Amino acid sequence: MFLGGNLAENAGGPKAVKYGTTKDYVLNCEVVLPTGEIIWTGANVLKNSTGYNLTQLIVGSEGTLGIITKIVFRLIPLPTQNLLMLIPFFSPEKACEAVSAVFRAGFTPSAMEFMERDAIDFVLKFVDVKLAVKEEHKAHLLIEVDGHDLDTLFKDCEKITEIMYEFECDEVLFADTAQQKNDLWRMRRAVGEAVKSHSIYKEEDTVVPRAELPVLLKGVKEIGAKYGFKSVCYGHAGDGNLHVNIIKDTMSDNDWENKVPLGIREIFELCVKLKGTISGEHGIGFVQKSYMDIPFDASTLALQKGIKSLFDPNGVLNPGKMFE
Ligand code: LAC
Ligand code: ZN
Repeated sequence: MFLGGNLAENAGGPKAVKYGTTKDYVLNCEVVLPTGEIIWTGANVLKNSTGYNLTQLIVGSEGTLGIITKIVFRLIPLPTQNLLMLIPFFSPEKACEAVSAVFRAGFTPSAMEFMERDAIDFVLKFVDVKLAVKEEHKAHLLIEVDGHDLDTLFKDCEKITEIMYEFECDEVLFADTAQQKNDLWRMRRAVGEAVKSHSIYKEEDTVVPRAELPVLLKGVKEIGAKYGFKSVCYGHAGDGNLHVNIIKDTMSDNDWENKVPLGIREIFELCVKLKGTISGEHGIGFVQKSYMDIPFDASTLALQKGIKSLFDPNGVLNPGKMFE
């Protein structure tokens, strides 16, 4: 199995809301440095208060500091049961508001995914999943709970459903069979590819404290209207992690190249204003590097670049990634 890439990107995904991201499971790793030296970053222990945390520095470093060659993980038991429901909402912002209410009520679903209407429309043309979507459904939440005791999970679903109805949703679709669960997950996982197959696109990753998700979504749409672009939003609502896919459609090349980046900048400024940041799980790479001055001030950016030059004085690893 190849997991170096998962570490380098600190991969997340739908279950991160309950289980955290890759970083939460890495105890120690062997890294080949750009100088040719081979180091271990930590120790094979569950507790470690020894020196700076080089393990966590390497995780998410996007291949810019070293090559990960061995990994020691912390493992947890796989939950044996899960239940899945899909909830249609009449308003995307209400769907986003419902998200934090679930956590405030004391539940931690194993997944809580948001898809706005366009995301559903794109994906239903892309995968062979049947789903009855009414004209007035403007967004969906896909919610999974997991554990070991099915009775408890049924009760949790009942209570979560009650919360959903407070935010004006339509009838909850409960996945009764393994096939239905599989179809709903296939649908959710295909959204990204479905949206991207439609047009030239820019995929931006945003993240805010989850209670701010309704403000972020509203802001993304307002900014889109101001700069004349259409966005399709979906993502890991339970983490406040919203993927914003901006689609070119009939926009002119000039507007696409010059106006859209100004809008993206405003979206990221909004994220930071809401105490979030510019990537929850996709990383910076080439796509978001010109926006790194938004989450970081000059001295913090200098610290980050200083780390890069300490590890890689000749700039041989993944040059041009992450920083301008
Ligand atoms: C997803 C990928 C694009 O959430 O992060 O589908
Ligand atoms: Zn994602």
